[in-house]
Amino acid sequence: MAFLKTARRTALALAGVGLSALAAPAWAQQSLVMYCGVQEEWCRAMSTAFERETGIKVAMTRKSAGEVYAQVKAESANPRGDIWWGGTGDPHLQAADEGLTLEYESPNNKDLNDWAIRQWGAAKGRTIGIYSGALGFGFNTDLVKKKGLAEPKCWADLLDPKLKDEVQVADPNSSGTAYTLLATMIQLMGEQKGFDYLKALHKNINQYTKSGAAPAKAASLGETTVGIVFIHDAVVFAVDGAPIKPVAPCEGTGYEIGSMSIIKGARNLENAKKFYDWALTPAAQALAAPAKSYQVPSNKNAPVPPQAPKMSEIKLIDYDFVKYGSSEERRRLLSKWDNEVKNLPK
Ligand code: G6P
Repeated sequence: MAFLKTARRTALALAGVGLSALAAPAWAQQSLVMYCGVQEEWCRAMSTAFERETGIKVAMTRKSAGEVYAQVKAESANPRGDIWWGGTGDPHLQAADEGLTLEYESPNNKDLNDWAIRQWGAAKGRTIGIYSGALGFGFNTDLVKKKGLAEPKCWADLLDPKLKDEVQVADPNSSGTAYTLLATMIQLMGEQKGFDYLKALHKNINQYTKSGAAPAKAASLGETTVGIVFIHDAVVFAVDGAPIKPVAPCEGTGYEIGSMSIIKGARNLENAKKFYDWALTPAAQALAAPAKSYQVPSNKNAPVPPQAPKMSEIKLIDYDFVKYGSSEERRRLLSKWDNEVKNLPK
């Protein structure tokens, strides 16, 4: 009898193996490698939702825009990433200019705002706008009061000697936010005066952070008086009741077109296209607000978060994305900033 029991157990075990061998073997698990350029919470919301909807396993990493560009470039001979989602448009445009990303036309292009399609056209179809937001700053209202300062309203106010070591912004090499500041100052004042402004501002900078949104958190915590960020990044802390006031600078300001690109040589190309199409839908773009991301979405039918700064009420420059997203210009300006600003003695 024992023999029969063993035989039965063995037969069941073999059947089990047989069945599992019929199911998709582990290596065939549909997957997608996603490089994400916005805040961690939004990156996670997007990757989790896509995985839930499609069953495609997403390996997501979050980096700042300049860092993702550098990684995509470094890996170009042997690409690891499939989709680069989020982060400011300039590094995406530079990657497109250098042929690191793939032309693709989504059936959902027809539902996008003009500014998103203009980005797609400028990049010969290699990147596309997914959200927009204006640059500005946030200041800590308690610290401004304590220092007896007038509330800063303009870029010029950030040069006040009373703000020495009290202003924070990211490094434009890593951060798309900070590169937008660099390009905005040049477009507002001309290259020479723009760099003069950044040199004067340098005296008040307490640190150049890696991530563009970090200065908003620092200002909300009172670790710095002013954080130069996209205005919506200061709103995140203001709506949570922190003593931070978002400001659209009086002289006018630049803005970003947050972008998305398929990486050339993507190993999971079909899944990258599935993600790309999905990320342009109103439902996907509606995931931003619950993830405390108050940018303006690119799909005309996507809900605009009520907390999103009203772009029509902000004095915006006509930001030249083609010029400042070109490989030559972005490289030239970043090396000029390194040489003439970053290491200036305070
Ligand atoms: C934050 C903003 C985004 C922006 C991104 C750029 O996530 O909410 O609108 O695109 O920063 O990040 P970075 O670190 O490259 O400045």
